[in-house]
Parts: sequence; structure tokens; C-alpha cells
Amino acid sequence: MELTSKLPGYGVSIFSVMSGLAAKHQAINLSQGFPEFNPPIELQEAVADAMRNGRNQYAPMPGIPELRELLAQRIHDWRSVSINPDSEITLVPGATAGLYVAITALVRPGDEVIIVEPGYDSYAPVIELNGGVVKRANLRIDALQRGESPWPWKEIKSLLSNKTRLVLINTPHNPLGCIMEMDDWNQLADIIKDSKAFVLSDEVYEHMVLDGKQHISVLQIPELAHKAVAVSSFGKTFHATGWKLGYLCAPSDLTVELRKVFQFLAFAANTPMQVGAYQFLLENPDYEFTVSSLMQQKRDTLLKQLNNPIITWLPCQGAYFLVADIGQITQKSDADFAIDLTVEKGLATIPLSAFSKQTLPGKYLRFCFAKNDDTLYKAAQILNQLT
Ligand SMILES: Cc1ncc(COP(=O)(O)O)c(C=O)c1O
Repeated sequence: MELTSKLPGYGVSIFSVMSGLAAKHQAINLSQGFPEFNPPIELQEAVADAMRNGRNQYAPMPGIPELRELLAQRIHDWRSVSINPDSEITLVPGATAGLYVAITALVRPGDEVIIVEPGYDSYAPVIELNGGVVKRANLRIDALQRGESPWPWKEIKSLLSNKTRLVLINTPHNPLGCIMEMDDWNQLADIIKDSKAFVLSDEVYEHMVLDGKQHISVLQIPELAHKAVAVSSFGKTFHATGWKLGYLCAPSDLTVELRKVFQFLAFAANTPMQVGAYQFLLENPDYEFTVSSLMQQKRDTLLKQLNNPIITWLPCQGAYFLVADIGQITQKSDADFAIDLTVEKGLATIPLSAFSKQTLPGKYLRFCFAKNDDTLYKAAQILNQLT
């Protein structure tokens, strides 16, 4: 019997490929986006305690109530908005699952979804699995290099049609490290004000915003919040990507639909980590604020070591990635250069072309700086010697 793939255009993700190559060649791994350090020890203990105390069975489908209440309180303190913990927050097994739930709940066959590239790789395939049509706009890397907003509002406006069901935003952004400023949100609100489009806002790096900038969530934009889903990830915030825990915030009418899908995807996120997260956050009310300063220190540690005049670095305002412009170093494609860098020089990275279906204006590599200082020093040494 012939098996017809439902995702014929996709192979193994570049993250798995580069991490596999890094392991094979014992390269320093700045490729995949995960920290080299552990979650706080008190958090580890809280999760272990939850297991020892018998919190090992199914959680309620939307998540344990005490964590949802605490999150609603936190969101109120951070963003000055009221979220109903019972009807507007849903704990999910990681943001990737949350994105899957939101796209599946919203996108019907033939619906168009506008995404921005380069961008996280899970959006397009899930849209396609749901019969949606992906419309791609391109972030303006040249504008970012000039210190201007890279968001392609004109292009997004031109892609909008009466079939547009969803516009997908990611702030802070992977891989470019840019953020949505208030003016950007206003532009989006204006563009879609007369359309039937919803907004899906991937905010997994919301607690990694650098240089005194503030994260602005879609939840804070009244013109959008009533038709938006915001996606958060404890994996990112707790330096525990392997724990796969995140949450969705959306108005109650949307949440009803999200939960209908979620109950048949996973039913619930895992219990001991929810209990541990609750206990840890309760006892550490300022924890999230420490994450930005840690990541800023990491970015600056790497930047201070870098002195190769033929590599230029894009500005990074958030998330934990720095992007190098390698146009002056190589005639090869960024993907081939990334493989050489791993195999011959022992440094693994991700080529930016992997985040985009369309051709980028130059050649770029993405480096994850959520690593121990020693690793960052070693990576910088390799980069500084490239000619
Ligand atoms: C932009 C973006 N969204 C979502 C995710 C996935 O988050 P999680 O590990 O919670 O599924 C990532 C992980 O790298 C990401 O970079």
C-alpha cells in the first residue's frame, strides 16, 4: 500500500540535523535554541516534591486552577490586563503544542494565514495540515540593520484578503531577535481592523527582552486582544525546554474552541510540572524579571569577545539568538557554510535560510547565546579566526 505523505515538502528539521552533526563532531553547539544551564534548583525540587507527594495523575484539562490563578495575577501585574483564569488560560504541553491547538482550532480548509519569515519552523506545516494556505511576508533585515522596525506592514497589508483567517506574529522574534513595539502593534491593529482575521501571537521569549526594552503582549492591545491567542512557554522562561510546558491566553469564546481541540490532542499538560511551577512562582514573585538580565549578560559576554571585522552582527533586542552576517566570509550558501563550520571548525549554528522559504537578502547564521560563559568564549575564538 502506498503511503502518501501529508507533509510532502518537509524532512527532518534543521535543528535535529545540526544538533546531530554537532554531537557527531563534538562541536560547540550554539545551534538549537536551548540553554546549557539548568532550571533553578528550587524549581527542580518543587517538581520532585510534587511527584513525591503523589501529584502524578491527570491534571484538570485546562490546567491546575492554582497555577492558572497565579498566572492571571502575574499577567495583571506585568501587563495591566485582566485575564479570567477559569475561562481564558489553558496549560498545554509546550508552546509548539499550543500553536498546533490554536492553528487547528482556527484554520479551516482554504483559509489563508499570513506568517512572517524568517520564522519558527512549526507554523507553516501545521497550517497546511489543516488545509490552510500559507501567505508569507518577509521581515526587513536591512531595516533591522539600520535600527528601524523590520516588520513588513505594507507587505502584510497587500497579502490580506477576505480569506485571511489568521495573522501570526512572534515577539521577541526567533531567529532575528527583534520585538514588536507599540507602533508595530498599532499598525497591525489598523491593517486588520475591518477584516475577519484573528491574531496568533507567539510570545515564548516574552521574559527575554534586553536593553531596558519592555515586552508588549497582544493581550495589551485592546483592538486585538478580543480576537487573539497569546502563546507562552515555561520551557523558555524556566531554562527547561525539555519539560514541555506552556500556556495559551485567549478570550473565553476562543478558549472554548481551543480547549475542544486540546482535549483530543493531549487532554492535559503534565501534573507535577504544573504543581512545581506553581510552588516555585509563588515563592519567587520576581523570578521572571531575572531572566532578561541573565540573557543580556550572556549576549554581552559573547559580543564583547567577538572581534572579527568581516562578520557583522544584527542588533538583538530579545530572545536568545544573535545573527551574524557572513556575506563577506564565504561564497558558499549559508547552509553549506554552517556544515563546514561544524565539521571543520567545531562550531554548530543554524543557517538563517532554514527559517525562510523565500530567498533572504544575504547570508546569515543564527547563534544561541543561552550557554555557559566558557562555551561562549570558545565559540568566539573560533569565529574570530575565520577568514
Ligand atoms: C518562536 C518559538 N515558538 C515556539 C517554540 C517552542 O516552544 P516549546 O518548547 O515550549 O514548545 C520555540 C522554540 O524554540 C520558538 O523559538
